[in-house]
Amino acid sequence: MRLDQAFLDQYQQHELRTHGRKNGFVTKGQQARLEHWLPIIGLPRDAMLTSDDTDLTKRAAPWVLEIGFGNGDFLVHMAQTHPEWRLIGIEIYLPSVAKAVGRLEDAEVIDRCRISQLPAQFVLEQQIPEGFLHGIVINHPDPWPKLRHHKRRLIQPEFARLLVSRLELGGFIHLASDKPDLAEWMRDILNATPGLHNEGVEDGFVPRDDARPSTKFEQRGLCEGRASQFLQYRK
Ligand SMILES: C[S@@+](CC[C@H](N)C(=O)[O-])C[C@H]1O[C@@H](n2cnc3c(N)ncnc32)[C@H](O)[C@@H]1O
Repeated sequence: MRLDQAFLDQYQQHELRTHGRKNGFVTKGQQARLEHWLPIIGLPRDAMLTSDDTDLTKRAAPWVLEIGFGNGDFLVHMAQTHPEWRLIGIEIYLPSVAKAVGRLEDAEVIDRCRISQLPAQFVLEQQIPEGFLHGIVINHPDPWPKLRHHKRRLIQPEFARLLVSRLELGGFIHLASDKPDLAEWMRDILNATPGLHNEGVEDGFVPRDDARPSTKFEQRGLCEGRASQFLQYRK
């Protein structure tokens, strides 16, 4: 099923450069849900997420961002466990956006979420004001294991500075990875980023929070014999 082009233009990226899969098949049912919900919760590419943005923000709630939310399980978990938060989720892969919209609607938490299918770098730079976010969650970003592809990894020194700039003072960044090489890469870059305090204990990592759900990629790592590692920072 293909979505209407004008609709795609408003909510999707085309020329914006990023690495990773973007488009793909969505079912008829998913298409109907996207067409219903994106005009309500989608963050159009020329909009700014500000306190006069929507009715949601008028409640002056803390905003928490998840980057690369995949099928949306962690977004649902955050919405259910933190009813005081508003959530903004960014995910470049359309079939994942479609799955997440379905899960958010089924869990009856969708009215507290906003969704963007543009690359996180663009949304953070262009659509989120400085000091706006209460927290940022990044679970299992793409590992890009080959040395020549390391520059495609999401966490880079410049991106880390951008994350910090969008956080309020006292705001948090939580990250997870099942790939030890990537976990250490993220830790080393974030440890070297001015304005961030690593709240980890051993080697800079925190123990797994038993209350968190296993995301798809945490489960995949476990099936392949890799326990995930977790990082926690405070601005
Ligand atoms: C390995 S998956 C992890 C999905 C989910 N967080 C989990 O733990 O199961 C990484 C996700 O990040 C998304 N992604 C990659 N680059 C991105 C970017 N620049 N902005 C937003 N999402 C991105 C991918 O489409 C993919 O769904």
